Amino acid sequence: MIVESPLDLIFRNLFYRLKGYADGIDVFLKLEGFNVTGSIKVKTAIGLIEDLERRGLAKPHETVIIESSSGNLGIALSMVCAIKGYKFICVTDANATRANIRGMQLYGAEVLVVEERDTSGGFLENRFKTIDDLLATHPNSVWLNQYDNLANKNIHAAQTGNEIANEFERIDWIFIGAGTTGTLGGVSERLRDLFPTIKVVAVEPTGSVTFGGQAGKRNIPGIGTSMKPKIAELACPDRVVAVEEARTVEACLSFVENYHLMVGGSTGAVLAAIDQLTPEFAPGETIVAISADLGEKYMDTVYDPDWVRQHVTRKEPLRTKANTET
Ligand SMILES: Cc1ncc(COP(=O)(O)O)c(C=O)c1O
Repeated sequence: MIVESPLDLIFRNLFYRLKGYADGIDVFLKLEGFNVTGSIKVKTAIGLIEDLERRGLAKPHETVIIESSSGNLGIALSMVCAIKGYKFICVTDANATRANIRGMQLYGAEVLVVEERDTSGGFLENRFKTIDDLLATHPNSVWLNQYDNLANKNIHAAQTGNEIANEFERIDWIFIGAGTTGTLGGVSERLRDLFPTIKVVAVEPTGSVTFGGQAGKRNIPGIGTSMKPKIAELACPDRVVAVEEARTVEACLSFVENYHLMVGGSTGAVLAAIDQLTPEFAPGETIVAISADLGEKYMDTVYDPDWVRQHVTRKEPLRTKANTET
């Protein structure tokens, strides 16, 4: 395989067949963590920028792209903007890891770290204030706003949804982690067209408000929100499974043990949701799930026993051999 650009490093037909995962039924895990910049978000980044270009709202070497992100989208946009010739300013906060900030800077992004918490104890309001200031002071700037941007959903209908549809003759269940809900909304829109009886399962952490849950503290990044994203109105899952962070950690650890791949935090939540709904699966059904990223970047969080002890509350000990208590 010879590539002409890092953006050719998107692996669209990569599925890990998890033999017998759900009480003897196979599960197909779509692996997005091998994509360049390490996650599904490289597709989102390309989709958001190319949408601006199509609408005549962005010109290389003139337009300044602004977005708020502390993780996967920030790195992905940094690379895409570097390749396409846009200045990118990423607004992030004190929770962002040094590796993420350094990665964005290496790709040429300017990174603004919001240090001060707002009245709710989080950083979101202050991030938005910083974005307002940037838009007012940079005449050629555009805020992508992934939470309220249809292009975030549409790219996953056109790409991720079709990539899944191309692989299977029928699909009965699809499990998708929900952050902005761009992946959930887009993939479910496309798959419902093709497989009208499919059951779409949205997976989020407990403490997320996206689908009407009670706001609560969350520590694992990627999925869940403290403010309902506007595009979530368009995502109509058949089921919503809220997963406790302890179950997410447990699912990540037992996946490493049994399937020998370190997956990211949101994948752990998706696997835990599959465990929860397994009694509802019928033999012969096709079950597909999306793994948004891999585990290496979670060594200081999900895979660090000290971090888990400090941050993840649980009612009972973790049920895995690779127990974080050891
Ligand atoms: C690791 C991971 N999983 C899941 C998601 C959720 O994707 P979406 O924002 O499309 O809902 C994200 C989004 O950043 C993510 O980084």
